[in-house]
Amino acid sequence: VYDAAEIVTLEPDEENAERASSEGETPADETANLGVYEDAAVAIEDGEVARVGPSGPVTREFPPENAAYAVDATGKSVIPGFVDPHTHALFAGDRSDEFEAKLRGKSYQEILSEGGGILRTVRATREAGDEQLLDDLLSHLDAMLAHGTTTVEIKSGYGLDTETELRMLEVIDRADDRHAVDVVPTFMGAHAVPEGRETDDYVAEVVNDQIPAVESQDIAEFCDVFCEEGVFDVEQSRRVLEAGKDAGLTPKVHAEELAHIGGTQLAADIGATSADHLLHSTEGDIAALVENDVVPVLLPGTAFGLGAAYADARAFLDAGADVAIATDFNPNCYSQSMGFATSLSCVEMGMTPAESLRAATTNAAGALDLPESVGTLHEGAPGDLAILDAPSYVHVPYNFGVNAVDTVLKGGEVVH
Ligand code: NIG
Ligand code: FE
Repeated sequence: VYDAAEIVTLEPDEENAERASSEGETPADETANLGVYEDAAVAIEDGEVARVGPSGPVTREFPPENAAYAVDATGKSVIPGFVDPHTHALFAGDRSDEFEAKLRGKSYQEILSEGGGILRTVRATREAGDEQLLDDLLSHLDAMLAHGTTTVEIKSGYGLDTETELRMLEVIDRADDRHAVDVVPTFMGAHAVPEGRETDDYVAEVVNDQIPAVESQDIAEFCDVFCEEGVFDVEQSRRVLEAGKDAGLTPKVHAEELAHIGGTQLAADIGATSADHLLHSTEGDIAALVENDVVPVLLPGTAFGLGAAYADARAFLDAGADVAIATDFNPNCYSQSMGFATSLSCVEMGMTPAESLRAATTNAAGALDLPESVGTLHEGAPGDLAILDAPSYVHVPYNFGVNAVDTVLKGGEVVH
């Protein structure tokens, strides 16, 4: 990819960063830390970034005419492919009527307590055949890829029984094989309490039956739990995550989405990779996350869809957290677009465009324990990149509601 107006590598340019701080520039101008090259080129060899920098030297070393594929990116810009670290992208059924109900003033919890919400998706998912689930998931992955996402985490959790939870993880695994987007699988049997079940009894099923089955199939990397008022309390969540840990599944926590009950502190205690949502986190929670290297994953699309107050991204950033953002794509938050998540992050959560890009790439990779080069265009990083039909990365959040991405490469291959 050569003659790009701009290539964002996410590699802090130390000289620039020092100059920026000595000149007293505010974080609003932290572009210096993104490692931006102007009039730039990136060469990819064997699926990895071989060279990135000013177009002249890079194209002399790697002449475009010798390349298997060369993109003249004049007027365009290049960013790492997005990493979307929190989705529930595998589900059956349609809940668009709940969107309307919420607009009429119904709350998420009211819908759930009437058997709607997650429980309705569970009924539809149990009934759906594997091929239908796979087809739907592949088309959601197509939409994500078209919006620049090259790695995505997907949770199970619409089965709520051993058979369907495993079936979901198998479909997620098949989608990963079939699709260019890399998929990181998370087991989330503790996503809701199935209808007619008592919570402790269901937790025992997750611990004694579901987790051992997931372990024996070796089919998930993380174990997540909906630690929420009226769903799983802190002690029940801890039981699930401890059992997951013993089975080799790294903990993640849905924490303080609808109310503050202590999920953030649990994530810190148990050594979770991430704590997600965090709409009601306190200052103490934030300090505990930073101290224990738990990545806060903020999901502004969910707040947008619920009409709720947003997480206080500034408080996390000011505390020194490596904030990540995700779409949380699910039937209650119907957006596959990381670009839209960056727009909301800037306008509603007070992040700078640079901070939102970092949150959607390298920090998001951190929320999935991926190698450090993922979500960057450092030399040696995977050749996963999005080419924007715009002169700067700022157009990702700036061009809200519209996809700024026109071409996507995964491992150096043009996949969109
Ligand atoms: O992350 N909070 C729990 N899980 C999802 C919602 C799932 C659903 O409503 O189907 C979330 O927002
Ligand atoms: Fe979620």
